[in-house]
Amino acid sequence: MERTLGFFILFLVSVSYAENLCCSYPCQNGGVCLTKGFKDYECDCTSTDFYGRNCETPTFSKRIKLWLKPSPLTLHNLLIGNNWLWDIINNIPFLRGFIMKKVYTMRSDMIDSPPTYESEHPYITLDANYNVSFYTRTLPPVPVECPTPMGVAGKKILPDLDVLTKKLFIREKFKPEPIGTSALFSFFAQHFTHQFFKTDIKRGPQYQWGGHGVDMTHVYGKNKHDENLLRSFKDGKLKVQTVNGEDWPPLSKDAQVEMQYIMPVPEDSKFALGHSFFGNLPGLFMYASIWMREHNRVCDVMKKEHPEWDDERLYQTGKLILLGETIKIVIEDYVQHLSNYNFKLLFDPSLLFGEPFQYQNRIALEFNHLYHWHPLMPDDFNIGGTNYTIKDFLVNSNLVIKHGMATFVDSLSKQNAGAFTIKNHGKYTVNVVKELIKHGRTLRLQPLNNYRKRFNLKPFKSFEELTGNKWLAKELENFYGDIEAVEFYVGLITEKRRPKAVFGEAIVEMGGPYSVKGLMANPICSPKYWKPSTFGGNVGFEIVNTATIEKLFCQNIKEDCPVVSFKVPGFVEGPEKPVDEHGEL
Ligand code: HEM
Ligand SMILES: *[C@@H]1O[C@H](CO)[C@@H](O)[C@H](O)[C@H]1NC(C)=O
Ligand SMILES: *[C@@H]1O[C@H](CO)[C@@H](O)[C@H](O)[C@H]1NC(C)=O
Repeated sequence: MERTLGFFILFLVSVSYAENLCCSYPCQNGGVCLTKGFKDYECDCTSTDFYGRNCETPTFSKRIKLWLKPSPLTLHNLLIGNNWLWDIINNIPFLRGFIMKKVYTMRSDMIDSPPTYESEHPYITLDANYNVSFYTRTLPPVPVECPTPMGVAGKKILPDLDVLTKKLFIREKFKPEPIGTSALFSFFAQHFTHQFFKTDIKRGPQYQWGGHGVDMTHVYGKNKHDENLLRSFKDGKLKVQTVNGEDWPPLSKDAQVEMQYIMPVPEDSKFALGHSFFGNLPGLFMYASIWMREHNRVCDVMKKEHPEWDDERLYQTGKLILLGETIKIVIEDYVQHLSNYNFKLLFDPSLLFGEPFQYQNRIALEFNHLYHWHPLMPDDFNIGGTNYTIKDFLVNSNLVIKHGMATFVDSLSKQNAGAFTIKNHGKYTVNVVKELIKHGRTLRLQPLNNYRKRFNLKPFKSFEELTGNKWLAKELENFYGDIEAVEFYVGLITEKRRPKAVFGEAIVEMGGPYSVKGLMANPICSPKYWKPSTFGGNVGFEIVNTATIEKLFCQNIKEDCPVVSFKVPGFVEGPEKPVDEHGEL
């Protein structure tokens, strides 16, 4: 009896002290770690092209492939330089298409499809696929029994959020975006991505309430109920009100879609928009209004083409056309600006026909986190000669109506966005980044270096290699102790910027795959959809295939075409400068 009890106690002790050997992430190159009893592990190297106990040895053919493969930095430098070469390639459709196909396949091959992980289990579950309330996860959470929050590396307690925020995030002096990105771009980013980044914060940061892709719910409403409130049910069009000779979204009293405001707002400033957040900032209201006008314009065009069509068909076809226009603009204007590539990007779904490709998408938690680009928002705006602070902007959609669409878009185009770097979060977004990091901790995101490896980047060996800056390296070392323990978002924003780029390497090499997969896996890009008849015939298909951000505005503004640009006109890039001792650019 006593002996049995003794064994039992010994057993308990050994269980509670046994370490999960997978906590040190021993499996390399995408191998999956599986514990084996209490004291061992094994790596599953299936289809990684590597073998060995830790999947560390490449097969012969993989070794050759690795040797031939250019590094992400080499590719980046090739794409931002060599103007003469790209001038030639951009004008030879066959070559441009060939390279673009490579961009599509190389980027989207990085994303697991069907999805593999969610936030509640550090291993594959069926829920990861079937329970669409979850954001998916590219890497599973750090197991709860690990000795440190990041696995085995680093301190037992992560840096205090208030201290971290003060040191790394709060903006003291505005730092402009160094390649000349405009505030028109910042608001586009926010407006476009809010259709699929929809955290269901009441349930928890691992949940979301969106449709996992580009579904235009930010224009048309989150469900059928809201869509019906926003529709006029005449000629396919959306409800509008006309003020100062321009069409604007209806007031909330005329379309009772539930909106959410971050501060109290008078009734006459409440508008019914596709997304509940969009009444909070005039830049979002501006995009909501222009897409609403575009939908109604497209309905007019379609009615002329198809006088036989009823309201429903005009409405549904309008949605498909606007979705197509959105992807076209995102790839050829928005990502084009962001990449700063001399290669001219192309939206052509037919390039993927015949390639192995899954037309399904799931929004990843990591994609949401890396898209927190709040430093891109400036503190002040000059609109048509009047200065406004961000505080004047909040819940003040009427500013757009007051100045008019043309003046508003013109002014945002000429307004420099903020730089995505440390010490550049404005007053009203500091709390957002703090919450974000808290969520990353609750959901046990793996350290930045694990994500670098997952996306074929070399892990950083030192804080200085990460930041390119002695002062910042020292600060981070004090916070984390070990480069293997740097948190996801903190690592992304402290990483040195690439030459001639908005971001560091990791954001682009991760964001690129999520973004390409999300755009090209859209159903309209699949062979049965991607044809003129889906878009009401050749006229509709042509609208999709010739869409630009400039046309979106200019075709829906009666006056002369204003400046519509993601880059401030006449902006001259300064010499490359790293962040200095005080975190200044
Ligand atoms: C001054 C301008 C902005 C303000 C006041 C603001 C405010 C907020 C707030 C209050 C949240 C919700 C945070 C939470 O629930 O924890 C949020 C989320 C978010 N913001 Fe912003 N934001 C601004 C600009 C931007 C910009 C320019 C982007 C660029 C992409 C952006 C991207 C996001 C994303 C991706 C989320 C997560 C959404 C979700 O998961 O539901 N925001 N922001
Ligand atoms: C998804 O998972 C959550 C948490 O386990 C659960 O509450 C919810 O009911 C699940 N949803 C579905 C549709 O199974
Ligand atoms: C608006 O701000 C700019 C730049 O800060 C300044 O040069 C200008 O004088 C201000 N204009 C007015 C009308 O206050």
